[in-house]
Amino acid sequence: MKTIWVIGGPGCGKGTQCSKIIDKYGLLHLSSGDLLREEVASGSSRGASLQELMSKGLFVPTDVVLSLIKERMDKARQDGSTKTGFLIDGYPRELEQGLQFEKDVCPVDLILFFDVKNDTMKARLLGRAAVSGRADDNEETIVKRIEIFNEKNNKIVEHYKDKVVRINAEGTIDSIFNEASKALEPLFS
Ligand code: AP5
Repeated sequence: MKTIWVIGGPGCGKGTQCSKIIDKYGLLHLSSGDLLREEVASGSSRGASLQELMSKGLFVPTDVVLSLIKERMDKARQDGSTKTGFLIDGYPRELEQGLQFEKDVCPVDLILFFDVKNDTMKARLLGRAAVSGRADDNEETIVKRIEIFNEKNNKIVEHYKDKVVRINAEGTIDSIFNEASKALEPLFS
């Protein structure tokens, strides 16, 4: 089973591409943001503290997000809900998260990096804001999320340069998916 991380700034299209990738390759999609939003929606006390950080565009503690991901991976390994592996979307956000994952969970096989300009991220998120209902889809928080991404992501790309495939994600959804498929094909052929 393969483990693939999907990285890229807010609104670069990680979630959009992951939906297409899982349809083609049968991977289990684990979105860190979705898992955290589920935790908030559950009404747990852990969820309440997460909401405050997320609505400001700040990172939640690594141990929280990593344990949510690991729990789902362990469960899927037991119940056989994926035969090909895991597509981890939105993790790691900083190098230390990647190192912690490899120590506590398993090695990563490939990292897809969807690369777009800051203006593109902002425009896509402002476009989504009208329908998403997300507390962090407002201009002030979007700018903060982009700033944090730019501060942290380079170290991940540098450290894992042999595993990172950088994909220009400025184009159409289908053309980007085509590039992602080319990167993934060798893992599954
Ligand atoms: P998360 O939910 O992961 O948010 P994000 O990284 O900011 O990314 P988004 O989900 O907003 O965007 P996306 O890249 O998936 O783009 P999408 O496909 O939706 O995280 C939220 C928060 O949780 C974080 O800020 C943090 O607080 C916390 N968190 C999460 N992970 C964490 C971690 N590991 N550690 C600590 N904290 C963590 O597309 C966006 C829009 O663009 C859509 O409307 C879409 O239709 C459109 N679009 C997509 N592709 C294209 C295209 N090619 N052309 C035109 N439009 C497009």
